[in-house]
Amino acid sequence: MRFIPYGRQFLDASDKKLVSNSISNDLITTGPIVTKFEINLKKYLKCRYSYVCSSGTAAIHLAMLSLNLKKNDIILMPAVNFIASYNMAKNIGLKIYFVDVDEINGQITPKNVLECIKKNSLKKISALITMFNGGYPENAKNFYDLKKKYNFFIIEDACHALGAEYKFRNNFFKVGSCKHADICTFSLHPLKTITSGEGGVVTTNASSIAKNIKLYRSHGILRDKNKHWKYDVIKNGYNYRLSDINSALGLSQLNKINFFLKKRKKIYLNYLNELKNFSPNLIIPEYSKNIKPSYHLFIINIIFKKLNKNKNHFMKYLINNYIIAQQHYIPIYEFSIYKKKNYFYKASKKYYENAISLPIYVDLDKKKQDKIIKIIKNYFD
Ligand SMILES: Cc1ncc(COP(=O)(O)O)c(C=O)c1O
Repeated sequence: MRFIPYGRQFLDASDKKLVSNSISNDLITTGPIVTKFEINLKKYLKCRYSYVCSSGTAAIHLAMLSLNLKKNDIILMPAVNFIASYNMAKNIGLKIYFVDVDEINGQITPKNVLECIKKNSLKKISALITMFNGGYPENAKNFYDLKKKYNFFIIEDACHALGAEYKFRNNFFKVGSCKHADICTFSLHPLKTITSGEGGVVTTNASSIAKNIKLYRSHGILRDKNKHWKYDVIKNGYNYRLSDINSALGLSQLNKINFFLKKRKKIYLNYLNELKNFSPNLIIPEYSKNIKPSYHLFIINIIFKKLNKNKNHFMKYLINNYIIAQQHYIPIYEFSIYKKKNYFYKASKKYYENAISLPIYVDLDKKKQDKIIKIIKNYFD
């Protein structure tokens, strides 16, 4: 029997055709397909500038560098997130403060950001990283109010949230439009809304930030417009470029994004319908009506203590039934690289104890989903 993964890419003949055609072009990197992909992303997200790069991690690094964040600048970020933003901030030498997350949906809240600022008596904050765990952009606008009050940059680690929208004054805005953030980053890893194999995207509306993104993405090189052989180097940059081959896949996938989102929504609604009122010890996050999610994850919380069980036991039970669930994420303070041990993030701890991401991907069929639901229900017997 084959395992049901928690996520996987959806590729079809049109993806294969575009990728295959791209290989015959004169330029297979820094060529026309990269430009086309960036233009289409910009149109889709309704932002002024959109740049593709080699990964979501590279996108986050580019975002920090482009905002001119430097050693000892203060940055706030969720205590629960994929390690990428923490590692990139550490590599720059930023001073990191963790914000506790909501114990059910795993996202930071404006209230928790305020608590972090007060508890640590923070004065000059350079940036806040937000992360829309699972693709549900809660509070995008409310974080912006805090930005205005404290005058920091907002970097959206929106690696889960390509295609998600939030409502502001009766209009919906795409995450990535940067209406309420300075800069937004996405991942194009195979498990995300769309994929380019590996890849990332950075968006902004500010021309000064945009210039920096382009520079840092390619060695800090500034080319002379009239002499192709001449260039200056004005930043210590990187090679974070995405090839035309990868961009061909991303471009083809972007054409299908509405279909992907629709499929994911259907799976989400089926889980919700089946599991919502099933047991007081199974809690599903409730999200605001003012968002249209990307449905990257379906998160459940099982109150294991009440069942006299634990998460390891449940994960093993699922594996024995050929189902692979996942943990999004282990709190960053749990890792060996985190040296300070005098932490206490009560809600993050609880989220870590109870939250599990169930399989959700475009071609997860009803039969497989019914099996997952049945196996979960049986666990409570
Ligand atoms: C929330 C979040 N941030 C950052 C990343 C890093 O993206 P990538 O794997 O494309 O480098 C990921 C990818 O797993 C992610 O889920």
